[in-house]
Amino acid sequence: MISYIEKLPTPEEFNLLYEAVGWGTIDTNIIDTALKNTVYSICVYDDSKIIGYGRIIGDKTMFLYIQDIMVLPSYQNQKTGTNIMNKIITKIKELKTINPSLRTYIGPSKGVEEFYRKFGFITRKEADLGEGMILKI
Ligand SMILES: CC(C)(COP(=O)(O)OP(=O)(O)OC[C@H]1O[C@@H](n2cnc3c(N)ncnc32)[C@H](O)[C@@H]1OP(=O)(O)O)[C@@H](O)C(=O)NCCC(=O)NCCS
Repeated sequence: MISYIEKLPTPEEFNLLYEAVGWGTIDTNIIDTALKNTVYSICVYDDSKIIGYGRIIGDKTMFLYIQDIMVLPSYQNQKTGTNIMNKIITKIKELKTINPSLRTYIGPSKGVEEFYRKFGFITRKEADLGEGMILKI
């Protein structure tokens, strides 16, 4: 049975998904510290096996960042990612009641932009903003 549970994954569950989508693995202590700074976290299970994940990080009132949206390859294209994103958007709408100007960012992997467009994301260029940048040090 598929279930969506609002909780943090274990570092091992996080790494299982992270590796399965081709991003390698991360030191479990680093994951543990990173996950503690999460605003909202949604895990998807098939019975007791984690098959999907997504989280929001940020300051809850001015800026949010969507991160680590992952679905096990064998479960992809079955709307799990859509369901994860819908839960995340619901949470963002709830947080927006505190500050309607709350801004949400995402840094999509190459080629995944069209997936996020389905939920209302546009590029910074389309929003007449400067390009996003990443620190390369
Ligand atoms: C991206 C990802 C989360 C999508 O999850 P999913 O459960 O496979 O997606 P869904 O089944 O909900 O797909 C919904 C729609 O998005 C489209 N879509 C799915 N993956 C896509 C991708 N990588 N790029 C563009 N569109 C995509 C689907 O074709 C579908 O379109 P439709 O509504 O017109 O039928 C999943 O493919 C994944 O984990 N990818 C590897 C990790 C990754 O790149 N994560 C994003 C990091 S920014």
